[in-house]
Amino acid sequence: MENLSYNNSFILYDSISELPSYGQNLIKAAWEALDSAYAPYSHFLVGSAVLLTNDALFKGSNQENASYPLCMCAERVALYNAGTYDGLTPVRALSVVSKNLRKPNAEIASPCGACRQVILEYENRFDQDIEIFISGLPGQVHYFPSAKHLLPFSFSKENLL
Ligand code: THU
Repeated sequence: MENLSYNNSFILYDSISELPSYGQNLIKAAWEALDSAYAPYSHFLVGSAVLLTNDALFKGSNQENASYPLCMCAERVALYNAGTYDGLTPVRALSVVSKNLRKPNAEIASPCGACRQVILEYENRFDQDIEIFISGLPGQVHYFPSAKHLLPFSFSKENLL
C-alpha cells in the first residue's frame, strides 16, 4: 500500500487590485459578462471570461432553461465562444465570478465538475496550462495555476489512446 497525495495549491488574493493586470482585466470582463446572465430559475448569476495567448478575450454567462437540465454554465459558454471564433489559439487564463441574488454575501462559487472537465479539455488540447481566477462579492480572488489543480485524477484523451 502507498499513501499518495496531490499538490493542489492555490493563491488567495484579498482584492482584485493585487492581481497582475491581465488577471484584473479578466475579472472585470467576467463581471461585464455576468450582466448578460439569464438565470430566472436559480437567481444565481455567473460571468466568465477567457483570455487566449494572442490576447483575444471571450465572454460567457450562464443561460438557463425551464427544462432545468438544459441550463448552461458561464464557463462553458465562454470557452465554446472562444473555440468557435478562434479554435487555433491556446487558452491562457479563465475567470469566473458569481452573484447569488438570494444570498448577497455568499462565499465564492467554484466551477462545477462539468466545467472543470471542459476547462481541462482545452488545457490538454493545446498542451498549455490554463490559469483560473475565481471571484465573487466582496472581492477576494482564488487563483489556480492550472485546471489540473481543480480536477486531479481526471479522465482525459490519454485514456482513449
Ligand atoms: N453555474 C455556472 O454558470 N457555472 C458553474 O460552474 C456552476 C453553476 C450556473 C448554472 C445555473 O444557471 C446556475 O449557476 C445554478 O446552478
